[in-house]
Amino acid sequence: MKRLTEFEQLDDPSFSASVIEWQRTYGRHALPWQNTRDAYRVWLSEIMLQQTQVAAVLGYYARFLERFPTLHDLAAAPLDAVMAQWSGLGYYTRARNLHACAKRVVAEHGGVFPSDPHLLAELPGIGRSTAAAIAAFSSGARAAILDGNVKRVFARVFGIAEYPGLKPVEDALWRRAEALLPHEGIESYTQGLMDLGATLCTRGAPDCQRCPLSARCVALAEGRTAELPVRKPKKTIPEKQAAMLVVLDQGAVLLEQRPDSGIWGGLLSLPEVDGHGARGAVPDGALDAAAARFGPVESVQALLPLVHVFTHYKLHVLPFQVTLGARAALEARYQWYPLSEVGGAALPAPVKKLLAELGAPSLF
Ligand code: ADE
Repeated sequence: MKRLTEFEQLDDPSFSASVIEWQRTYGRHALPWQNTRDAYRVWLSEIMLQQTQVAAVLGYYARFLERFPTLHDLAAAPLDAVMAQWSGLGYYTRARNLHACAKRVVAEHGGVFPSDPHLLAELPGIGRSTAAAIAAFSSGARAAILDGNVKRVFARVFGIAEYPGLKPVEDALWRRAEALLPHEGIESYTQGLMDLGATLCTRGAPDCQRCPLSARCVALAEGRTAELPVRKPKKTIPEKQAAMLVVLDQGAVLLEQRPDSGIWGGLLSLPEVDGHGARGAVPDGALDAAAARFGPVESVQALLPLVHVFTHYKLHVLPFQVTLGARAALEARYQWYPLSEVGGAALPAPVKKLLAELGAPSLF
């Protein structure tokens, strides 16, 4: 497949023509909010369909309109009654915004929804994409939608290899969405993009055989439909380090009872060196001073570091093996623990791993 330049992709009326033709033959035509230009009904459906599938919305939509047949009924109703009708549909901010929006349209627009998507987008609960959908369906306005489904279709068709939630990527998608708009048939085109995303170009099992865009789909041509759109990058978690002393003497290791609160609260662990600097840099003085609490130090030797990943951060354990000339008297929180029994001690996982690597027999 010849890969089009971005300019060619943007200036391509055959894109919308394919979507429109497909929608007219294979798209959805009998949904209860279709075949009407009643902005109240269109608006209500678009709000209910935000992050919610058609099948879940159908019953709520019918019951809601029975209870609040007009915008004025909704605006005049107490919030409790609106929440009661929404109950079970989820994302309840939508219901509060819906009620606030109804009041605003009555108070500020004489009870008539504006047809300009920019004005619609100033109302509560109506973002840019929802505003465009309402304007397109209720007054044929030429406005671009870009919801999650459409982002997926675009990311695949145009082979967009960056996470669409990033601002510059999303901005570029909006530019595409605007540039691809047809001059006629905006309702079929808008509905067609929604139908494609919901029925064929699904996240897990795209049905490319039936897709009217398959001949131009970069993801399909390159076998990357499973990778696109790129998933939200995982947050990078903070990294910390802990320098630990492995003080061994006569088949025993020196362990410290940790305070009850905080990480590893109440467990036994290796003594740590406080106040060391940047990652990887543990000043010799700090090491020697920490080790000297346990007796005259004969040698301190760095062991291989290990990494332990917690849910909220990554811990780099920097172990140092200490050999003493003699044992000093210990504060109460320290104890000599026979290596042969250390397998039964309540130790943090990385400490267990470290001691196992040093050959504590009970940990094998
Ligand atoms: N999802 C959002 N708007 C929709 C609509 N008008 N029809 C079907 N699914 C939708």
